[in-house]
Amino acid sequence: MLKCLVLVLLTSIWASSALVRVPLRRVRSIRTQLRARGLLNDFLRDHRPDMFNRRYSQCYPPGTPSLRLGRSAEKIYNFMDAQYYGQISLGTPEQNFSVVFDTGSADLWVPSTYCVSQACALHQRFRAFDSTSFHHDGRTFGIHYGSGHLLGVMARDTLKVGGLTALNQEFGESVYEPGSAFVMAKFDGVLGMGYPPLADILGNPVFDNMLAQKTLEQPLFSFYLSRRTSSGYPEGELLLGGIDEEKYTGPINWLPVTTKGYWQIQMDSVAVQGVSAICANGCQAIVDTGTSLIAGPTNDILKIQQLIGATPTTFGEFIIDCVRLSSLPHVTFVLGGTDYTLSAEQYVRKEMLGDRELCFSGFQAVDMVTAEGPLWILGDVFLTEYYSIFDRGQDRVGFATAKHPTKE
Ligand SMILES: *[C@@H]1O[C@H](CO)[C@@H](O)[C@H](O)[C@H]1NC(C)=O
Repeated sequence: MLKCLVLVLLTSIWASSALVRVPLRRVRSIRTQLRARGLLNDFLRDHRPDMFNRRYSQCYPPGTPSLRLGRSAEKIYNFMDAQYYGQISLGTPEQNFSVVFDTGSADLWVPSTYCVSQACALHQRFRAFDSTSFHHDGRTFGIHYGSGHLLGVMARDTLKVGGLTALNQEFGESVYEPGSAFVMAKFDGVLGMGYPPLADILGNPVFDNMLAQKTLEQPLFSFYLSRRTSSGYPEGELLLGGIDEEKYTGPINWLPVTTKGYWQIQMDSVAVQGVSAICANGCQAIVDTGTSLIAGPTNDILKIQQLIGATPTTFGEFIIDCVRLSSLPHVTFVLGGTDYTLSAEQYVRKEMLGDRELCFSGFQAVDMVTAEGPLWILGDVFLTEYYSIFDRGQDRVGFATAKHPTKE
């Protein structure tokens, strides 16, 4: 009798305690590919960042729900730099897609087979009629970007991520992807991991759906992002439902989420070579796996660029003389009283242009103004050095020093 009960208990615990590893691939960003082909300046001229902040709601097709467009627009501009992707499947039988796992948005979307845009033609497209578990949803959605809107229809189907199944997952099928940004993308779509208020497509974000279906061991997920040249180590890993103690050293420091939309936290200050003249009285930051660099208000970022000796190129990117890296100051982000310091080797991004190595500043000016003031974005440049844990159970973000192989 007792044995039986134990067995039942064990089975029920086991059934509701999945821990799922999703390998992430690290690839060259769209920006890097464009630059290598000499097309970056043309692209940036056609897709000026300031255009992305304008709202075009008057151009919206009738019946489209009202959406917060400005934010999504910034996001899509950032995907140009996205470098880490993983695989999911939708439908029955499974249709595979590669997606950016993005803590800075909350929607899931993939291209639809009905999309005839060039960007869709070059990617995996969802075929609703091939899926027996597909549910039609009459609503449409739109995400504004650049010269037009990403437009689509909403759908529900079975989602699988690393062996974990979420039934009836709401997602968007894009039927129109304007412009050239997505043409060169290695990913087909985006899987947002922010809080529900951040969702543009009305519905349950993927992680909320997983929480509701109680499939995970713990209500949290963790990201490990590798450095560029680590061999024999995963290029990146998303762990759903747990924390991988093999991937970091030292204690985890926890920071409460201040506003539940983005994974937003309080930042105490930013210091260059120990001197904190930036964000001196505190500021707000979001932790965003879908942004490549570290971004902040223009004035603050320009100050940092100056202090690290970065000089602007024609289109607003900043470049550093690679020979000088060892003599450049450290930049420290103080979070919850703990210093998170990046050396120049850690805050520059090295890229080969032909046979020439270029060093780009890992800092980028992005003015994201909210009711709580301007937001900083701690993107992949930061998250490569610090293992990150996103805890929906206690609404907090944890950071610990990421373990990288010593040989680079
Ligand atoms: C989808 O991906 C899985 C895992 O990589 C693979 O086993 C399967 O064959 C793929 N399915 C299709 C239709 O490509």
